[in-house]
Amino acid sequence: MILDAVLFGHGSHEAAWRAPDACPAAPLELAHWLACARDAEAAGFDGLFLGDILCLQDHPEQHPSEALDPLMVLAAMAAVTERLTLTGTVSTSFNHPWHIARRLLSLHHLSGGRAGWNIVTSSYPQEAANFGWPEMPPTAERYEMAGDVVAAVRALWAGWDGIARVADKAAGRYLDRAPAPVHHCGRYGTTGGPVNLSPAPFGRPLLAQAGSSPEGLRFAARHADRVFTVQADLAGARAFRNRIRSEAAACGRDPGAVKVLPGLVAFVAGSRAEAQAQLDALSERIGLDHLLTKLERFTGLSLAGLDPERELPCGSEPLRANRFSNSRAGLLLEEARRNRLTLRQLATRFAAGRGHLMLIGTGAEVARVMRDWVDAGAADGFNVMPPELPSGISTFGRHVLPYLSERRRAD
Ligand SMILES: Cc1cc2nc3c(=O)[nH]c(=O)nc-3n(C[C@H](O)[C@H](O)[C@H](O)COP(=O)(O)O)c2cc1C
Repeated sequence: MILDAVLFGHGSHEAAWRAPDACPAAPLELAHWLACARDAEAAGFDGLFLGDILCLQDHPEQHPSEALDPLMVLAAMAAVTERLTLTGTVSTSFNHPWHIARRLLSLHHLSGGRAGWNIVTSSYPQEAANFGWPEMPPTAERYEMAGDVVAAVRALWAGWDGIARVADKAAGRYLDRAPAPVHHCGRYGTTGGPVNLSPAPFGRPLLAQAGSSPEGLRFAARHADRVFTVQADLAGARAFRNRIRSEAAACGRDPGAVKVLPGLVAFVAGSRAEAQAQLDALSERIGLDHLLTKLERFTGLSLAGLDPERELPCGSEPLRANRFSNSRAGLLLEEARRNRLTLRQLATRFAAGRGHLMLIGTGAEVARVMRDWVDAGAADGFNVMPPELPSGISTFGRHVLPYLSERRRAD
């Protein structure tokens, strides 16, 4: 069972930055990230995962959305860890393949071969504006672009195959031969190469992908070693993993080479009541205005004019019209319908779990669900999203990991 920790600035709960002990500007400080990295390695996680968007979020005056460059943060974390994989998000829409190839290899060398690339296509209109685009292209075009860019990056890395760094001081020879130009020519990802860094003595960096549209799924099946997905229930997660695996096989890959890691938000403590109290304490601090904007952005739903205290009209036109535009909208609406949630309740649920599998309970209870998912073929592990940082990392390690030690030793 693979377990990575996904680090959002203050934690995955939207109100984590307003908790009594939280320091609002902590994610701008090196000490915060180093504490997270050390705690994750000590707790027994396998890797760290940093997301990224290339803009401020909506209403940056209402909540912290300043963000450091993930690859720089991971490079700093490399210095205080020995074992964790370090996966950082880099967009294929706004970075040249040559830069991506080199930046990832830089992290790879600095970490002794532990770098991973979370491949995203970017989706916010503000990101398009930041790079002078009128808008983001449609999903299919973004993934076509991503396919070109990934092919170019891989060609740059592969351009070093078979070249030995002989480093012969006496003979005055550094490489046994010079790498040839790469000449990779795609519609969106053209490069002459070679990149000025060899992956050797390591293999290529790990490739991860996050996205659930049909295009995203096909892309992941072709390229990804790890898939980060939003899944709220076991049956849906198993169907998703089966789809990824059969698509991978259709691309000629070993389906076992693609590891599917659903996000998991766990509120965990010595008793279920304590865990619930932790969640309740954070939920009380939520700012509804900012959250509704974010919910609209993430789901594509139109929520304007709805009374936050009334049950959500799940069958109504604006909600239904956007029902299938984003898999997360579907998951959240399904939950709202099943539990007859008001808009405020849905927003509170979103603030805590972002649509991911959310568990509230003791370590034994949380570990049992995780084992059930893996046993049922719904996951190869989890991207654990601690609600608060850095404290949530060691809390999860202390409460949950002892119940999974057998399973993790067996892998
Ligand atoms: C769990 C998860 C995490 C994501 N993290 C990021 C991220 O850090 N940065 C980003 O630009 N997009 C991120 N995305 C967005 C996807 O890369 C993709 O652009 C979006 O989900 C739309 O693609 P889809 O329609 O294939 O899902 C994430 C998506 C998922 C499902």
